[in-house]
Amino acid sequence: MTVDNFIDGEWVVSEKEQYAPIKNPANGETLGEVALSTAEDVERAVAAAKKAQKQWALVPAPQRAEVLYRVGLLLKERKERLARILTMEMGKVIEEARGEVQEGIDMAFYMAGEGRRLFGNTTPSELKDKFAMSIRVPVGIVGIITPWNFPIAIATWKSFPAIVAGNAVIWKPATETPLMARELINIFAEAGLPNGVINLVCGSGSKVGTAMVEHPDIDVISFTGSNEVGRTIAEKCGKLLKRVSLEMGGKNAIIVMDDADLDLAVEGILWSAFGTSGQRCTACSRVIVHEKVKEDLEEKLLERMRYLKIGDGLDEEVKVGPVINGNALQKIHEYVQIGRGEGAVLLAGGYILNDGELADGYYYAPSVFTDVEPSMRIAQEEIFGPVVSIIPVKSFEEAIEVNNSVTFGLSSSIFTRDINKVFTAQRDLDTGIVYVNAGTTGAEIHLPFGGTKGTGNGHRDSGVAALDVFTEWKSVYIDFSGKLQRAQIDNN
Ligand code: UN1
Repeated sequence: MTVDNFIDGEWVVSEKEQYAPIKNPANGETLGEVALSTAEDVERAVAAAKKAQKQWALVPAPQRAEVLYRVGLLLKERKERLARILTMEMGKVIEEARGEVQEGIDMAFYMAGEGRRLFGNTTPSELKDKFAMSIRVPVGIVGIITPWNFPIAIATWKSFPAIVAGNAVIWKPATETPLMARELINIFAEAGLPNGVINLVCGSGSKVGTAMVEHPDIDVISFTGSNEVGRTIAEKCGKLLKRVSLEMGGKNAIIVMDDADLDLAVEGILWSAFGTSGQRCTACSRVIVHEKVKEDLEEKLLERMRYLKIGDGLDEEVKVGPVINGNALQKIHEYVQIGRGEGAVLLAGGYILNDGELADGYYYAPSVFTDVEPSMRIAQEEIFGPVVSIIPVKSFEEAIEVNNSVTFGLSSSIFTRDINKVFTAQRDLDTGIVYVNAGTTGAEIHLPFGGTKGTGNGHRDSGVAALDVFTEWKSVYIDFSGKLQRAQIDNN
């Protein structure tokens, strides 16, 4: 399978005709190839988007939404096919892949509903016989850059609100996961989205991403990925006064208090730390535990980890799939060495798995460090793999402080049965998402998704908040007094 670019309603070969292989991380098999495009391809996509956007913005929003309803129905119809491709391309276990496609389905119906809302405000004017309102208008051309860990869900979080609001989109998917992009683009086309409203340009961040960020006719960039790349994008956009929405990961913690249901907490840790092999922005990579229950929690966690089956995610029994590629595997392993060097105690895992069926894939043993100091690198930096650090604390206040002592602020969680601690924690945890008695993953699409500090730059994906990224506010004043009324002067 070859994934080319999709421009102006057609699959087209990139200018340079260069390709990179698409690999299955579970077994190293080649699944196809993906175009490595250039700035010229971005130029073509922008020309198509510009032409299409003018017309698209004039289509009544409820009609634009009809396309999204059809997209939602097609996603639903193809859920199993999409989930299987997703598992093969990205490695997450099939149950999670189905869940991710479901996120896309939910987002389609939710954003289609926005076609009949897209609410602005009407408000009284300070003058007689004058009417005032604020309305949302599209920004124009939106550039979206999406990661490999949620190749379809994140693409829907960004493209659906952009499209329903009347923008045209240029989308650069991660080079690791173009097959999902191809599926979604074909669905858009089948659903009747006019040519040029969404354009796909595949290739590297350094070539295609940079060309998008620097293009003067792309009005907004919405990016999910690493903090390092996000900062570079923000700097470039800053110079161009271009709006940019960034979501850049986390160092999320689960707090376990001494009154918590420990079995429940263990379930939350397993799901959030080792689900998607730890490759979620929302993954739990720190467990902050009250010292009174530390030993019990560790014992229960290690016991449950014995039953985590590791392997190819297409096997329904498997709970932990591979990581995305060899580089990721090495990076995770290096962090484990760093943790050892810092004096943390390794309770489980800490090695690459390459025996038997796992030999040709990229598998890392789910790993647990304990007696971790909050300042250690393994407790501060995003590892993006199945590695969790247990940090003991003496009090609730210390737990909150440790949670907030990182440069990221995406998700946090607390397990406790004390209602006062619940409310204090949801106020004081400095993250964009807070969970009580659940793990750090599993954000729902109708709420804002994003975080504080190094996680983002104040914008949010999904929910109605996404519309703020893809629309401008226009304030409209209509004077029907028949005379020139001067605001701030004639109102006394
Ligand atoms: C991500 O890892 O970037 O909340 C997205 C969650 C998922 C989305 C994760 N719904 O874990």
